[in-house]
Amino acid sequence: MEIREGLTFDDVLLVPKYSNITTRSQTDLKTKLSKNISLNIPLISANMDTVTESAMASAMAREGGIGIIHRFLTVEEEVEEVLKVKRSASIIIENPYVVSPDQSIRDAIAYMTEKGVSGLLVVSDSKLVGILTGRDVMFESESNRLVKDVMTRDVITAKPGISLVEAKEALRKHRIEKLPLIDDAGSVRGLITSKDITHNENYPNASKDKKGRPLVGAAVGVKGDFMERTEALLEADADVIVVDIAHGHSENAINTVKLIKKAFPNCELIAGNVATARGTEDLIKAGVDAVKVGVGSGSICITRVITGSGVPQLSAVYDCAEMGKKHGIPIISDGGTRTSGDVTKALAAGASTVMIGSLFGGTDESPGSYVMKNGKRYKIYRGMASFMATLGRKTKEAGNAANDDLNDYVAEGVEAMVPYKGSVADIITQLTGGVRSGLSYCGANTIPQMQENAEFIKMSRAGFAESQPHDVDLM
Ligand code: XMP
Repeated sequence: MEIREGLTFDDVLLVPKYSNITTRSQTDLKTKLSKNISLNIPLISANMDTVTESAMASAMAREGGIGIIHRFLTVEEEVEEVLKVKRSASIIIENPYVVSPDQSIRDAIAYMTEKGVSGLLVVSDSKLVGILTGRDVMFESESNRLVKDVMTRDVITAKPGISLVEAKEALRKHRIEKLPLIDDAGSVRGLITSKDITHNENYPNASKDKKGRPLVGAAVGVKGDFMERTEALLEADADVIVVDIAHGHSENAINTVKLIKKAFPNCELIAGNVATARGTEDLIKAGVDAVKVGVGSGSICITRVITGSGVPQLSAVYDCAEMGKKHGIPIISDGGTRTSGDVTKALAAGASTVMIGSLFGGTDESPGSYVMKNGKRYKIYRGMASFMATLGRKTKEAGNAANDDLNDYVAEGVEAMVPYKGSVADIITQLTGGVRSGLSYCGANTIPQMQENAEFIKMSRAGFAESQPHDVDLM
């Protein structure tokens, strides 16, 4: 038996090449997420329950990447997360939240809080009759009064089809924050808000769909409700569906891809995870638009320990990307990324994007609250195949997992904590800054150019030690 050598990020370096780049701003990180979707930065937040729900996905899209909502939610909950992302910024909100004039203020406030909005349109017999904003209901939370008692009745409106420039001028002139769009029959056709206009100007790099709303992906499994879940997510306008299974080179995964593509031919579909060229090819033949690569590479993974299976991440990415290139299908490197240098190496080896878990797990935008340990702040970050994640899932599905033999659960992930790191935008700035410098060291302005120029050199343990800070006392 011939045994090949498998390498990962710490085994190699990129050999520096002549560069004519004078500042990092001359580099362009635009890349392909999948066959038909492009991103402005090559970063994806992982579909894990301690990483990506709507807050993370909205932030990822603002910065030019994308987040994939995890699937360990009910169908309704996952759809709601997608809708929240879509509503977090849009040029025109097509279906603004409404209340009736006869509803109580208390109910209206609860509805605003639930939906995370600062105002509601008041509609009666399909006609706009007022607007209810935070200002109208301030100090009214205990009130038994009705919406019609406090709403603003003189609403400045505009016709559907108004240009953004005109809308901005109307908001400025009337010093208002919300501009409902009303058709000739008086029905609500949309809403433009000052927040969305400002947002649009503040985040020029954001990833957007055709309607100017943030891009978002959502994961589905390969068993149970995956078809109805996919349908519901697509109806909510999820831009991409990710078939998420630990062993993606399997009949289950391939059948799922075929079924989804047959029922929803226009669905942009990613599947994984695989770690070989053959796995990549089989998923591509089944119809995927991108392949997620990484078996056992993640920081919280113990798949390699428990099963003995996996491929060191850099070799896996390289092998899969060679196959992806033949078919014009992008590859996502998933797991094991600890530094911007790792992101650069994954891209140089052929990945078009990099999926990130632990680096984003400790941010404000990841689900869950802080925990304190020895006076320091942390957030929980756990493998989706960890004991607690599996137990939680079973309990949710069956209502009760008390009768299960816990010894039957064989965990392939661990529960962990990661240091609290503040906003994900700051981490992204550090990562993309490092990748931009990495591009320049490879004499490249773009990711595809770097992939052409890249020359890896294998290093010894001494080379690795030399690559770290050494012979100094760190402050
Ligand atoms: P990082 O290294 O960014 O990796 O934290 C995130 C990726 O790890 C994978 N993942 C798992 N792999 N057991 C595994 O073997 C698990 O329980 C598990 N949970 C997540 C996943 O691909 C994720 O994107």
